[in-house]
This record gives sequence, structure tokens and C-alpha cells, in this order.
Amino acid sequence: MVSSLDGYIAKKDGTVSWMRSKDTYEKGIELTKEYIAEFVKSIDCYVMGSRTYEHAVELGWPYGEVPVFVLTERNLKSDKKTVQFLSGDLNEILSDQLKPKFNNIWMVGGTMLTKEFLRLGLADEIIITIIPTLLGNGKLFFDYIDKEIPLHLKDVTAFKDGMVEMVYEINKEE
Ligand SMILES: NC(=O)c1ccc[n+]([C@@H]2O[C@H](COP(=O)([O-])OP(=O)(O)OC[C@H]3O[C@@H](n4cnc5c(N)ncnc54)[C@H](OP(=O)(O)O)[C@@H]3O)[C@@H](O)[C@H]2O)c1
Repeated sequence: MVSSLDGYIAKKDGTVSWMRSKDTYEKGIELTKEYIAEFVKSIDCYVMGSRTYEHAVELGWPYGEVPVFVLTERNLKSDKKTVQFLSGDLNEILSDQLKPKFNNIWMVGGTMLTKEFLRLGLADEIIITIIPTLLGNGKLFFDYIDKEIPLHLKDVTAFKDGMVEMVYEINKEE
């Protein structure tokens, strides 16, 4: 998830221009196309809420030919063969339909669906990239999860454009 420093993942109007950092941090590493390609290559499928899906369609499809599963109660249609619409119990969707086929399942967002995954204990890791900006308002990543979730900091990377990526492992309850 890409977030502002004050914890927003989208502005109220959904605009994402704030995600392109114009900052400079000399000690950071370069975020190259190769770095992104290597990262994306490791993803076996994407899962997202219908609003994130609709926004991606509007902005230009960034998911190539990788399978995409969209959670919705509506009767949505797509002309892309890689897109499948799902609804129902998230635990069952994950254990019966996704885990048997895919190893690295990337929960794209937005906050509505991500928070449900966290509440239900279905996520293994949180990867959050902080953009050097305060948005002031919008959609918060972590409001109202209503649960304490201990984390283990696995990795931190600072980039030349001031973005900081943090990888947290979720400590599953015994
Ligand atoms: N900063 C980032 O990295 C990032 C990442 C992803 C998205 N975003 C942004 O976040 C915004 C969208 O986030 P959002 O929180 O408003 O919405 P969202 O989570 O993308 O989608 C919410 C919708 O997902 C469906 N849904 C959620 N839980 C479900 C369940 N258990 N079963 C079936 N369907 C379920 C419902 O669809 P129906 O109403 O169709 O039934 C619900 O209205 C967009 O602006 C997007 O660009 C930002």
C-alpha cells in the first residue's frame, strides 16, 4: 500500500497525483524499472475491492496478464480474461479458491477490503510505502481495525525520491 505520512491511501476524490514524489533523498537507492519489474514478477495474483478495480480501469490497467480477483456484491463485467469477480466469505475464498493455486497473493486494496483481511487475520505481511507528504484528509489505511496486531519489521528501504518502503510480518496468534 502506498500511503501519505499521515496515513491516507487516497484523497477523498480518489486522485493519486500525490503518489509521485518530487523529493530528493541523496542516501536513498534508485527506484529503477528493473527493481519494479523484479518485484512485480514475484506476484502470482492480485486481489482488490471493486472501487480499486474501477479506479484502475479508469487510470489504465497496470496488472498486465496476471490474474486479478475483484471482490464485489454487484454484477460487474470485464472484457479482460484475467479478471474474475468474487463474493462471499473471504476465509473460504482464500482457502478454497486462491491458496491452492497461487503462492504470492497480493492484496492491492483499497482500505475497505484490506481492513477486512487484517481483521480476519488473513494477511501475512504488510508492505507500506510512505510518500513524503501530508494529505490532510482522505481514506485512512488503518482506521477502525478494532484489533491489536503485533508486527515484526522485516525490511526498510529508502529511495532517492524520498519514499520509504517498510515490510512488516504479521505475528499470527497461536
Ligand atoms: N494508495 C494505494 O496504494 C492504493 C491501493 C489500492 C487502492 N487505492 C485507492 O483506494 C480507493 C478505493 O478504496 P476503498 O477502500 O474505497 O474501496 P475498495 O476496498 O477498493 O472497494 C470496496 C468495495 O469492495 C467490495 N467488497 C469489500 N469487501 C467485500 C467482501 N467481503 N465481499 C465482497 N465484496 C467486498 C465492495 O464492492 P461492491 O460495493 O461492488 O459490492 C466494496 O464497496 C481508490 O481511490 C483507489 O485508487 C489506493
